[in-house]
Formats: sequence, C-alpha cells, structure tokens
Amino acid sequence: MIKLKKRKILLLPGDGIGPEVISEVKKIIEWFNKNKSLDFEIDEDLVGGSSYEKNGTPITDEVFYKAIESEAVILGAVGGPKWDNLEFSKKPERALLKLRKELKLFANLRPAICFKQLVNASTLKPELVSGLDILFVRELTGGIYFGEPRGIIPIDNGERKGINTHIYTSSEIQRVARVAFDLARKRNNKVTSCEKSNVMESGQLWKEEVNSLHEKEYKDVELNHMLADNCAMQLVRNPKQFDVIVTDNLFGDMLSDEAAMLTGSLGLLPSASLGTKDKNGNMRSLYEPVHGSAPDIAGKGISNPIASILSFSMALRYSLNLDKEADFLDKAVQKVLDDGLRTKDILSKGMKEVSTSEMGNAIISKLQ
Ligand code: IPM
Ligand code: MG
Repeated sequence: MIKLKKRKILLLPGDGIGPEVISEVKKIIEWFNKNKSLDFEIDEDLVGGSSYEKNGTPITDEVFYKAIESEAVILGAVGGPKWDNLEFSKKPERALLKLRKELKLFANLRPAICFKQLVNASTLKPELVSGLDILFVRELTGGIYFGEPRGIIPIDNGERKGINTHIYTSSEIQRVARVAFDLARKRNNKVTSCEKSNVMESGQLWKEEVNSLHEKEYKDVELNHMLADNCAMQLVRNPKQFDVIVTDNLFGDMLSDEAAMLTGSLGLLPSASLGTKDKNGNMRSLYEPVHGSAPDIAGKGISNPIASILSFSMALRYSLNLDKEADFLDKAVQKVLDDGLRTKDILSKGMKEVSTSEMGNAIISKLQ
C-alpha cells in the first residue's frame, strides 16, 4: 500500500530551460502557501544531465526515494546535446523513464488545447484549430519503450543488430483504456483508440481489449478505432473530430507532439502522468511541461513558464484535490494572455514581449 505524507511536492527542474520555468512554478506554490493557507512542503533536487554532472548518474537513489514519498513530482525537462554521446544508462532521459516505470505512472494525460488568444500562432488555418480541445491518454510504462528483449548485439560478418520489443498485456491495455473512458465521460464522451492492428499483433490485441472493456462497462461512451497513421493524417486534416485519444507509448509520443503543434504553442502545454489509486485514494504522479529542455534558449530568460505552471495546475486538480485552486490558476493564465503579454515563443504583432520571470509575476498578480 502506498503511504504518502501530506502535500509534499518535489520539484525536479532538470536541464536546459527546466530550472527557469520551474522557478516560476515555485513562486506560484509559495503564493498559494502564503495567500491560500495551503501547506505545500517544497523540496527540490537534481535530475537528468545536471544530476549526471554532479553525481555521475541521471537520478540518484536518494532523489528517487524522495519522488516515491512525494504527493506530486513536478519536473522541468531533461536532456541536451552535451549528454548525447553518453552510454545509454547514463543518458538524462533514463531518469525520466525510470521515474515513469518505477512509480508505475501508466497513464499520461496530454491536453492539446488551442487557446483562443493564440489561434493565429498555429500553422493550420484558424477555423481548423479554433476551439480545439483534445485530450491524449498515452500509455506510459509499456510497449516498445520497455519491452524485452532489447539491446544492440553483434551478428555475423561484422554487422550488428538493434532490438526492441513491442509488447502489451490485456491488463495493461484495459487499465489505460479505463482512464480514457472515465475522462471522456467528463468531456464530450468520445474516445478514439489508435493502434496498428493491420500489421501488429499487439495492435490487434489493443483493439480487442479496448472493445471488450467498452462492451462491458462503457457502452454509453462513443468509441472509434483508428489506425495510428490515419490518426496522424486526421489530426492535420480535421483535428476537431477528436475528443479523447487513447494510444500506446510510442504512437502517443509521436501523435501528441503532432497535436501539440496544432495549438501553435508548445510552450503552453502541460502533462500529467498518473499511477493507480490505492485504497485511500492516494496516487503517485508526475507533472511536466510537454516542451523539452530547449538548450538553445536556456539561460536567456525568454522561455515560456506557462506549460510548467499549467502542469502545477494539473497537479492541483489530479493529485491534490484542489479543483477550485486549479480553476483559479488557469483563469489567471488566461487573463495574462488576454492582456496581450507574451513570451518570445508565442509573440505576435501588437503583443507585449515579456521575460520568463515577468510572465510568472504577471500570473501571480492576476491571482491577487
Ligand atoms: C516525451 C519525451 C520523452 C519520451 C523522452 C524525453 C524520453 O519525448 O515525454 O514525449 O519519449 O517519452
Ligand atoms: Mg515526446
């Protein structure tokens, strides 16, 4: 059974722009502590390349156990060209994958919402994306990311063979499909399940298991199946046909990046990775912005903290049972965008450019 200490939040800023954006989240948490009499206990530590530099590993056991004991982990980003040539087990990304796998965070929620203030920032025509609100539910602890056997092995005549295994069990498929169906009921009641059942046995199983769960428990939810390649095409052809999309780890990685771009603003998109609820309703969770570490702009104070701030809002909603506070924070972000404040990534004509910390401060001023 998971026993969690109350309201402990672990911040793992990580690499690149991670530390700058997470430091704005910290300001927001401190604001909530001071003004809304919440008692979040904040701890902060190293992860990814920055942990490797200091400790020779992308995540130490100590940090890993801190994550286990926290009610929510908020991560900035990991990775950068500096660590590209490290041996596989030392790469910054391994820290993230270890956290996902060991904390059993099997459901990755990635909303792709086109903010009305930013309709023109999308590369797609405004009428295609205005009002867009898709929720990806990506399976996060299975599939080809973790399947065995894996590795690079020598074979005959000096050649080598790279192996990964795409593998899913019935229960892994059903538990993530359940999350998708439950969330759809709170939205537009429609789930699209994506796989490659035309070429992969694991895709065929995926489709069958989603179907059988639907038959048994979720007949009130509209369910469609779509081949993942077709989904990639439909996302740019007519993205508003989707409500909730449930898919495996690898397809979810790719399709959610594609969908993020529809919104015109990678800098605004948060994500939540959730585990199973225990008897007491406690659940492990990790929140992170969808954007990566963006090493090219790190340290310049121009990165957009909104995706991280909205990730904290998801933490308020999904882990900390503070829906009202989450609404409050989401509204503050909307107001700042209404005022025309923009970080460089979402800047357009007539808008006012602000730095990372000015954006954080502006959001706090709307909370007042
Ligand atoms: C993501 C990222 C990660 C993934 C990397 C950084 C390991 O691309 O969260 O989408 O592939 O899952
Ligand atoms: Mg990705």
